[in-house]
Amino acid sequence: MNNIKVRVPATTANLGPGFDVFGAALSLYNEFEAKYTPDNKKTNFILKGEGSKTLPKGSKNLVWQSMLETFKFLGETKYNLKNLNVTISASIPLNGGLGSSSSAIVGGIFLANALCENRLSKSQIADLSTKIEGHPDNVVPAVYGGLCICSKDEYGDHGTVVHLPVPKLKVVICVPSFELRTKRARQILPKCIDLKDVVFNISRVALLTTAFCRADYSLLRQGTQDKVHQLYRGKIIPAMSEVLEAAISEGAYGAFLSGSGPALAALCDTKNAIIVQKTMIKKWKSKNISVKSYILDFDDKGVLRI
Ligand code: HSE
Repeated sequence: MNNIKVRVPATTANLGPGFDVFGAALSLYNEFEAKYTPDNKKTNFILKGEGSKTLPKGSKNLVWQSMLETFKFLGETKYNLKNLNVTISASIPLNGGLGSSSSAIVGGIFLANALCENRLSKSQIADLSTKIEGHPDNVVPAVYGGLCICSKDEYGDHGTVVHLPVPKLKVVICVPSFELRTKRARQILPKCIDLKDVVFNISRVALLTTAFCRADYSLLRQGTQDKVHQLYRGKIIPAMSEVLEAAISEGAYGAFLSGSGPALAALCDTKNAIIVQKTMIKKWKSKNISVKSYILDFDDKGVLRI
């Protein structure tokens, strides 16, 4: 196969209390294309859309690095940056919280694997993606689609994935104009968590899981509460709690920090989506922060050849 094009969904991770465990794929996509051009003499790396002016081209690009990891893993030496033309058309904002780097990792691995006759299974792609990303909750739903519970084995290698029923809810996303790198959003977390906060989160994760399994979305209000990471991240994300509370006050079932932020997410019925979105945007604008916003569906397909 000499010409491969794939699309990879955005993701929202944690869903409140499910830190590093819960993740869902969303209907916003980056597209990645690789063409094998054996006679080419120079690198041809094209970036379009989000990050096209800022992301590195060539060897420092995460898509290429993930392709290279995959070629190494498969023992494939034929491909290099000169004989592959890579094009990235990105719609997922880079500010943080929607899995843009996970999409690059999964896109790169999927492209490289397709060039190598699809020797890796989806589960191997998920494991390799997790190894590169460091935690599974963004990459796993990007691979499989849907709503996933992800756990790594005790060695941090192979992951077990449980697929929950995909809710028929809208996901309102608001991405503020400032950027927050996951590395920083993880550095500010405490090394130890108080036992009562751990108990709080265990109960919320149980409610979250039950809400999706029974499609009883009234449980999501409590089920999306968290005391493990949002408390701390809220200190560097202005108005986070107020925006989340505003979403709930307009009828959202639950609202949470999307991944490590700064994007925020609210789950609601179609009929409430626009008012929830408007209220979240207004609350942030009242703090002089402009936002990009989307009303999305859950994606149930994951990475896909197009
Ligand atoms: N679970 C991760 C975190 C998601 O909250 O840091 C960000 O990629």
